[in-house]
Amino acid sequence: MKAFKTVSESSVEAVHLVLPNDVNLLNNLMGGQLMHWIDIAAALTASKHANSIVATVSMDSLNFKHPARLGEMVRLQSNLVSVGNTSMKIKVDVWAENLQTGNKIHTNEATLVFVALDDSGKPTPVPGLMH
Ligand SMILES: CC(C)(COP(=O)(O)OP(=O)(O)OC[C@H]1O[C@@H](n2cnc3c(N)ncnc32)[C@H](O)[C@@H]1OP(=O)(O)O)[C@@H](O)C(=O)NCCC(=O)NCCS
Repeated sequence: MKAFKTVSESSVEAVHLVLPNDVNLLNNLMGGQLMHWIDIAAALTASKHANSIVATVSMDSLNFKHPARLGEMVRLQSNLVSVGNTSMKIKVDVWAENLQTGNKIHTNEATLVFVALDDSGKPTPVPGLMH
């Protein structure tokens, strides 16, 4: 395991198309579906940094500034913010893009904490963060 890693080594970008099964009665992306996508993107960042299995221990914040709409492309950008001994704080930014107009809007940001786990499910140390 490397002693230190950079933010870019564990950055993750994910894209999704908002499909009919993902929206509410107003054709807006449902919050629970977005939380699922955020959790996966952040878990991948944590796992890439730690090179181990990880568990979500908290979603500290999630704001909804604008809705993403049916048929739009949603892009998630996940970056490590800080690390503890076994824990990792991650920020996920979300943009929605209207594919007809090309208009992009920053819709959400979330912060989460993950813990790296060893093969027996116990917290295990992670590399430091090199800025
Ligand atoms: C992850 C888990 C094994 C950690 O066990 P634990 O007994 O809390 O372990 P520790 O007290 O040693 O804490 C481990 C690290 O997590 C951090 N942590 C624990 N709970 C936290 C919380 N709610 N928010 C932020 N950090 C937290 C601790 O500060 C510590 O960080 P550090 O090592 O960087 O200093 C345990 O909390 C667990 O199994 N939680 C359920 C996870 C889960 O099911 N997630 C959903 C599916 S992935």
